[in-house]
Amino acid sequence: MNNSPSASPQCFLTGITTTGTPHLGNFVGSIRPSVAASRLPGVQSFYFLADYHALIKCGEPARIQRSTLEIAASWLAAGLDPERVTFYRQSDIPEITELTWLLTCVTGKGMLNRAHAYKASVDKNETAGNDPDADVTAGLFMYPVLMGADILMFKAHKVPVGRDQIQHIEMARDIAQRFNHLYGDHLVLPEAAIEESVALLPGLDGRKMSKSYDNTIPLFIARDQLRKLIAGIVTDSRAPGEAKDTEGSALFQIYQAFAKESETAALRQAYADGIGWGDAKQMLFERIDQEVAPMRERYQTLIGHPQEIERLLQAGADKARAVATPFMGELRRAVGLRNLSTAQAPASKSKAAKSAAPAFKQYREKDGQFYFKLLDAGARLLLRSQGFDSPKEAASTIALLQKEGSGALVTLQDKVQISPGISAADVAGSLAFFTAA
Ligand code: TRP
Repeated sequence: MNNSPSASPQCFLTGITTTGTPHLGNFVGSIRPSVAASRLPGVQSFYFLADYHALIKCGEPARIQRSTLEIAASWLAAGLDPERVTFYRQSDIPEITELTWLLTCVTGKGMLNRAHAYKASVDKNETAGNDPDADVTAGLFMYPVLMGADILMFKAHKVPVGRDQIQHIEMARDIAQRFNHLYGDHLVLPEAAIEESVALLPGLDGRKMSKSYDNTIPLFIARDQLRKLIAGIVTDSRAPGEAKDTEGSALFQIYQAFAKESETAALRQAYADGIGWGDAKQMLFERIDQEVAPMRERYQTLIGHPQEIERLLQAGADKARAVATPFMGELRRAVGLRNLSTAQAPASKSKAAKSAAPAFKQYREKDGQFYFKLLDAGARLLLRSQGFDSPKEAASTIALLQKEGSGALVTLQDKVQISPGISAADVAGSLAFFTAA
């Protein structure tokens, strides 16, 4: 049996900050590989719109809303299947902000001082001779803690991110370790999953494609505008007939990110044979358009039906909260935010008393099914569930037991089994801890 606090052996989670309009660089570097990964069998994945993170960078309400819509529509149009994955909006999960506070209280301020994004702002201020914290919000400072809550809430093992985010994942691990040390083994320590093979796409000017360089090609721009933008990609001044270098050619690199190997080889040959830049751009345009056109059509349909996207996100939030709500209950009890009627007389200062509380643990077995067990304050196994098809069913059964206590055992007799040697009274005693909470 799996005794770690983890819910599933392969749980992936990724957040997408809802600022700006997705561009081809986002598609190649993040959307495309993530959607492909979400279709692999045996992985449970969580994708969410990080709109609380967006508030740190953007103070324009209409832009926040528009960008959330566009990014949700982009991921759906690119093939993210909300039936298969849990796709939700961060701000629909109030437990995330609640967990952020519990984590804040175990996070070293010194660690946050060392966060790259915060330090970059401070360095910039110091160089300019300003107060080091000029224009730095506490939101920017707290960014890593909020991100930690995103990850730790869903017991994610792997977090696919770009290199610039590795430090944040390390901080989430650090915070989780500190929490577990104080309160017992509740949080799963996450790891960054860096996709080495994913291409970094150059932008129109040859530098990395990025909003901050203003050199992007929006993913779902109209066909004629796509052609125009591609015509503006920087090239050298070699004339048609002269051999061209693929090395350092932004046009070639972008083509490669969309083309099959054989197509790339053909363009390489055409470069050697002296293809004119105009023709090469036409090839690139057709190749990108071929890939993007069907998605663009789905995107337009989705954008035209925002209420449908809203409905999908609400359904995603229900799925996510089926996990988050009971887990947050466990964490609240772990730190001592408990119903007072369960309070013990001020007891000995023994170590056991520190974190001793009954606990439900969810896990997944090799058979692929989802299980839970109930341990008493001394970590004795009181009961075990049968397998459930989804973590949601397991979580809602736990929620029923927590709400109704031993009274629910009769209706759940097919679903949970009391351990040998454990009396019904033992179980009832531990369940009372939750019903009173
Ligand atoms: N910080 C991430 C980015 O800018 C977005 C993000 C927020 C995230 N919460 C997360 C990514 C949790 C992974 C996991 O790309």
